[in-house]
Amino acid sequence: CFGRWHPSPRRGLKDAPDKGAHWCGLPLLTGSDVGDTPEYNPDLLDDPQWPCGKHKRVLIFASYMTTVIEYVKPSDLKKDMNETFREKFPHIKLTLSKIRSLKREMRNLSEECSLEPVTVSMAYVYFEKLVLQGKLHKQNRKLCAGACVLLAAKISSDLRRNEVKQLIDKLEERFRFNRRDLIGFEFTVLVALELALYLPENQVLPHYRRLTQQS
Ligand SMILES: *[C@@H]1O[C@H](CO)[C@@H](O)[C@H](O)[C@H]1NC(C)=O
Ligand SMILES: *[C@@H]1O[C@H](CO)[C@@H](O)[C@H](O)[C@H]1NC(C)=O
Repeated sequence: CFGRWHPSPRRGLKDAPDKGAHWCGLPLLTGSDVGDTPEYNPDLLDDPQWPCGKHKRVLIFASYMTTVIEYVKPSDLKKDMNETFREKFPHIKLTLSKIRSLKREMRNLSEECSLEPVTVSMAYVYFEKLVLQGKLHKQNRKLCAGACVLLAAKISSDLRRNEVKQLIDKLEERFRFNRRDLIGFEFTVLVALELALYLPENQVLPHYRRLTQQS
């Protein structure tokens, strides 16, 4: 099971066995499913037209926007997005907005540490794989995001020792965890990714294109 997915408890909190059991009991997470997990889709979580719910038209036909938008308050649209996402992926414990905002933070701090877009892209792939595996929850989401950036930076950049230290300082400051937890979690993430840190181009490239086009 994934006991380690609960970051080490602080302030004397005990591990919550209930949560662990719930976590491990999800059919999508059992070991025997590993061979059947669908191919990772690098567009799934970034697709601006997804999830399409009942406001599909708003998202797809830009020219209809002004007429349709009158009937759809932006807050409803957001709610629908979260809800559609939850229905489609009941095993994912975070909302789609939260997932996207974590990715923005990953990108922001990577840029501030002068990491290349390709590094951010790789971190995104690691992160989204963990998200889609249903491994993230409220308590570990920042550690996951941080560990993904750190692993991507180590594997794709030729970082010097003091640059790694700088990055860890930044991660620590931004995500407010302590570095001991981060270093421990790095290994957990590595195992969850089945040590597959070198990624096929078709998984990285879509992220890379979006990152370099947006900026
Ligand atoms: C959608 O998710 C975001 C991020 O968690 C949250 O802030 C927002 O309140 C949610 N929207 C609704 C309407 O539930
Ligand atoms: C990161 O976010 C901060 C605060 O929102 C912003 O001031 C800063 O310009 C961003 N940095 C980059 C590189 O996007």
